[in-house]
Amino acid sequence: MTATIRTLEELAAEAKRFALAVKPKERSATLVTLSGELGAGKTAFAGAVAKALGVGEAVTSPTFVLEKIYALPVCDIERGFDRLVHIDAYRLAGAAELAPLGFDELMRDAGNLILLEWPEQVGLDADPRVAERVRLELQADGSRTIAYG
Ligand SMILES: Nc1ncnc2c1ncn2[C@@H]1O[C@H](COP(=O)(O)OP(=O)(O)OP(=O)(O)O)[C@@H](O)[C@H]1O
Ligand SMILES: [Mg+2]
Repeated sequence: MTATIRTLEELAAEAKRFALAVKPKERSATLVTLSGELGAGKTAFAGAVAKALGVGEAVTSPTFVLEKIYALPVCDIERGFDRLVHIDAYRLAGAAELAPLGFDELMRDAGNLILLEWPEQVGLDADPRVAERVRLELQADGSRTIAYG
């Protein structure tokens, strides 16, 4: 499935659709990878998903802190997720560098929805633990495409 996004309103609507569609896994965190060139809109998408899930604070790029964890409001805990984890793996060089972020432990908690930018940096682009792969692309006409699968 591919969506074409032309405005921030369309991004918000698409992120909301995605946030409602993504279902928690029973035995592990739900890992969603966000792929695309620099500036494709990975962080913007993560921020829009966070907003759709009721995160009050603005989601900024975790490029320098690598990882941010947001508590989700009660309505989403009932649906199955109690935390949103946003990871930017751009500055990581290999899967081993995920360990200091507590990634394995985060993956064991079924209450976590993990959005991870730059999965190819840490060997997660083809990993079977990935529940959903989201690919963002900036088009020549300024629109963005979001492809799932
Ligand atoms: N759908 C959109 N509509 C309008 N502007 C957008 C959209 N998506 C992203 N942008 C803008 O494009 C710029 C880059 O977006 P963003 O930081 O989300 O990219 P990124 O893919 O996370 O980049 P990086 O690889 O550096 O992490 C930002 O200024 C952001 O506000
Ligand atoms: Mg980013």
